Formats: sequence, structure tokens, C-alpha cells
Amino acid sequence: MGSGKTTVGRALAKRLNLRFVDSDAEIESRTGASIPLIFEIEGEASFRQREADVIADLTARRGIVLATGGGAVLDPRSRRHLRERGTVVYLRAGVDAILQRTSHDRNRPLLQTADPRQRLEEMSKQREPFYREVAHMTVDTGRPNVQWLVQSILSQLDSAGSAQPVPASMNKSQQAPISLTVDLGDRSYPISIGPGLLDDADSVRAMIPGSHVAIVTNTVVAPLYLERFNATLKAAGKTAHSIVLPDGEEEKTWQTLMRVFDALLEQKSDRKVTLVALGGGVIGDMTGFAAASYMRGVPFVQVPTTLLAQVDSSVGGKTGINHALGKNMIGAFYQPQAVLADTNTLNTLPARELSAGLAEVIKHGAIIDAAFFGWIEANMPKLLDKDPAALTWAIRRSCEIKADIVRQDEREGGLRAILNFGHTFGHAIESGLGYGEWLHGEAVGCGMVMAADLSWRLGNLDEAERDRITAVVKAAGLPVVAPDLGAARWIELMQVDKKNEGGLIKFILLKPLGRAVVTTVPAEALRATLEACVRPRPE
Ligand code: NAD
Ligand code: GLY
Repeated sequence: MGSGKTTVGRALAKRLNLRFVDSDAEIESRTGASIPLIFEIEGEASFRQREADVIADLTARRGIVLATGGGAVLDPRSRRHLRERGTVVYLRAGVDAILQRTSHDRNRPLLQTADPRQRLEEMSKQREPFYREVAHMTVDTGRPNVQWLVQSILSQLDSAGSAQPVPASMNKSQQAPISLTVDLGDRSYPISIGPGLLDDADSVRAMIPGSHVAIVTNTVVAPLYLERFNATLKAAGKTAHSIVLPDGEEEKTWQTLMRVFDALLEQKSDRKVTLVALGGGVIGDMTGFAAASYMRGVPFVQVPTTLLAQVDSSVGGKTGINHALGKNMIGAFYQPQAVLADTNTLNTLPARELSAGLAEVIKHGAIIDAAFFGWIEANMPKLLDKDPAALTWAIRRSCEIKADIVRQDEREGGLRAILNFGHTFGHAIESGLGYGEWLHGEAVGCGMVMAADLSWRLGNLDEAERDRITAVVKAAGLPVVAPDLGAARWIELMQVDKKNEGGLIKFILLKPLGRAVVTTVPAEALRATLEACVRPRPE
């Protein structure tokens, strides 16, 4: 309140050549009543409801600068919409400055009290944590000059005005783990992201239930992390057995899964055992499926050690194995009890695997958060360089996006299908070439290029946006030219997909960048994409 949102917002919109919208003005124009009158007649709760509806509508628009009321952050829905759909600038002002600026303003119903200073102090205490939670950047308004403030905001945006830098708070708090929640009622679970969690007995004790643990890992991860993790489990008061599986996507099979059951039974593990997946997405998916079916279900915890698993596969409860005829065709929805992502494990991850994980990060931006997509474009060199702050931000934002989608549609009745952007083509590449030939993330990267091409052919995506997808996938070190499987084989492979209904292939397309739709497509457009994408596009 009184921080200058309207004045600064208007000036910023002018500089960015965008339209300026004020949510308070929008509420007044929709209701035909002034804000003080709405407060007087309906009270604050009802006003916040109206405000949340308006913010939901306005944040769905593109190309605007939006000034919200100062209390908008009190509503969780508004916080989510602001954070996910836009780049949020927090204009921070001290109580003295606000008092000075608002002293003669009768249009501020919350300050019509005997002691406005005390009221402001209370409000500031209540709202500050929410501003911090929602803001991508913070600008102190202590300087009197509006143009200075605008310039300060602009310098924090990239030249296109679309990408946020890593929020300042991320740089400072790299040591402290980030906590998120996958909100699924009584099956909700925490995600903890941070460096050194594998060695942190307190975190391990808090996140892993039960006293008997079976660690499922593989022959690549075990020599790197098993001994250390075992020691931490011991320090946390747990006894642990380990089950070391062969490595690789080609091992995500029924036979390998059976080895988990064999070991559990040989160890006489009962229903109290907690399975812990220590590894990438292959180990996570198989361990989750083993947990879903061992003795009809035992608890499990994900300890992801690849970027792909930290940004995607460890969250959301999809578990399973491949079949020779189709990727991930056998499995169950089964949520973990917790996700513990130690970002230090990425230090040993080979570059090719890092790139594979970036495919899923790009996916999250492309389907739902155009500002995050812009951030990924701008920060790709840092991500490839394993800059800790950039990687942590990419993991955090990806987990937030995925957790929110899973919260709304756990079993993929509708919305969750958008997380399969690029996967219809990608899964066909993986099973068509033979599992393990291309990495999952590589197939998804190329699949996104193909899905963007198809979106463009159907008029859903601009050519420039299509090219941005290709460019960012390429910049991540992922393939952008598809294998030439032959159109008939491509279609045969894509017909084996869990999303399909009545023999029709479903695609996730962008409409536009930052928004995804699930749809069938005309055969000619699909053939044109298959033909175009097996050849390098002219530069
Ligand atoms: P992966 O599990 O095969 O791991 C990649 C490679 O990195 C393996 O060789 C692994 O042993 C090795 N590795 C793991 N951690 C390491 C570390 N810290 N240092 C060095 N090497 C390390 O592959 P992935 O990319 O993690 O996962 C791909 C799998 O995830 C696919 O089977 C895919 O279907 C699945 N997936 C599942 C979901 C889901 O929602 N359940 C989502 C996306 C992908
Ligand atoms: N990786 C797709 C999903 O979890 O739904």
C-alpha cells in the first residue's frame, strides 16, 4: 500500500510497450462501486474473493503490466497465479514512507483507524512473508525518482523483458534446504531440496519413516553414494539393507523388478519396511512400483540423484516399468512419503545426463510458465555450467509447477496430461530405437521440437515461438533432428500411448507458448511434421 505500484507500473508498461492494468480499477469497473464502498458493504473477505477472481482473469492475459492491491498476496490462489504466470516485482516501502504518502488519502479503507501507524505495522508484519514468497525480484522504493525505480526493474529483466534472474533470496540461502509440499490431503508429502541432504541425519530422520529401510539403487550410483547414505541412515537410528540393480533404461523391466521382490523376501522384510529409491528416474519408477505392490503396499521415499529425477520423476507418484511394445506401460499411481533431493549429487552427473534433465525443465516452462521459459533461455549457460543457484532455482520452480498440477489432477483425468508435452513423439523414439539408445530426456527434447512444429502447423504457435523451442532445446545440448523411423512406423509406435482413446493419438500442443492443450490432429499435419523433423531445419 502506498509503495507506488500504480505510478511505477504505468511507467514500466510505457517503457516495455505493454498495456497497464490496475486490479483495483478493474474491480471498481466490474462492480460499479468504489473500493471503500465494497469494503463497507461486503467486508474485506468478500473483497479479497472478488480480487482473487479478477487476478485469476488478468494473470491469464499476456503482455500486460499488472498492479495489484497491496493485500492481494493474502489470498493463496492469487499468490499462486501471480507467481506462476508472471514476473512479480515487490516494491518494498517502509512504514514511515507509506504513512507520509497515504496521510491525506481517504480511499484506503484499512487505514481509516485511530492509529494508522500501528495498523500499518501490523499489516506489514502479516504481509511481508507473502511478498517474499511471491516475488521474483524486490526493489526498494526509498529513492524518490520513479524513472530510477523503473530502470532498476528493467535492469533485472533480460533484454526481451521476459526473464527473471535467479531471485536474490536463492543466492543467499543456498545452504538452507527449500521445502515444498505436494498437497494431496492426507497423502500430502514434503519435498526437500538442498546441498548435503544425503549426509544430514536430521533431515533423513524427519523425512524417512520407519526404522527398517531397504535402499534400492544401481551399480553406477552405489559406488558414489551408498556408503555415505548408509552411514547417515545409521546416524538417524535406522537399519538399512541395500538392493543394487543393474543400470540403465533397458533394465526397467519386469525381470529387474522381480530382483527387488526376491531381495526383500530373502531379507524377510515385512510391511514395516520403507523402500528408498536412491538414483535417477529408472530407479525411482521401479522402486515406487515395487513399493506399491510389495505386500500390497509399503511406504517409499524418493532420493533422486539425477537432474531429471529431481525436477520431474521423483514427484507425483507415477511408477512403473517398460514393456517391449511400449514405454511405461505397466505401473501404478503410488505417492512417496517424501522426496529428498540433494543437489550436491549433481556434481557427479555426466553432461549428457544433465542435458537430459534440462529437457523436463524446459517442458515445465513451455507448458505453463512463459516467464520461466524466458528465464531458462537466458540462463542456459549457467545451467550447463552447473551453477548451484541456477540449478536450484530450476529444480525448485519445476517442482512447484509439477506439484501444483499433481495436486489438481493426481491420476491424469485431464490437466496432468500436459506434463507429457513432447512425450508422444519422445516415447516413440525410445521404444522405436530400443530403450537406452537415446536417453529419455533426449527423446523428450526432440519430441518437444516436433510437438512445437505440429502446434505451428495448426496455427497455435507463431513461427518465432516454434523456433525459440528448437533453439532452447539445441542450446541445452539435446537433439533437434528426429530419427527417420518411417511415417508408418512412427504412427504405429505412437498408437501405443496411455493418453490415446478409441485408437486416436492424442498430442500435447502449445497454444501459445506458456499454455498447453491436449488434442487429436489431422493426419496431413502430422505427416508434414514427421517429414520436416527428420531433416535439419535450415538456419
Ligand atoms: P536414469 O535413472 O537412467 O539415470 C541416468 C544415468 O545417470 C544412469 O546411468 C544413472 O545410474 C546415472 N546416475 C544417477 N545419478 C547419478 C549421479 N548423481 N552421478 C552420476 N551418475 C548418476 O535416467 P533419468 O534420466 O534419471 O530418468 C529417466 C527415467 O525416468 C525414464 O525411465 C523415464 O520414463 C522416467 N520418468 C518418470 C517420470 C515420472 O513421473 N515417474 C517422469 C519423467 C521421467
Ligand atoms: N512425467 C509426467 C507426469 O508425471 O505426469
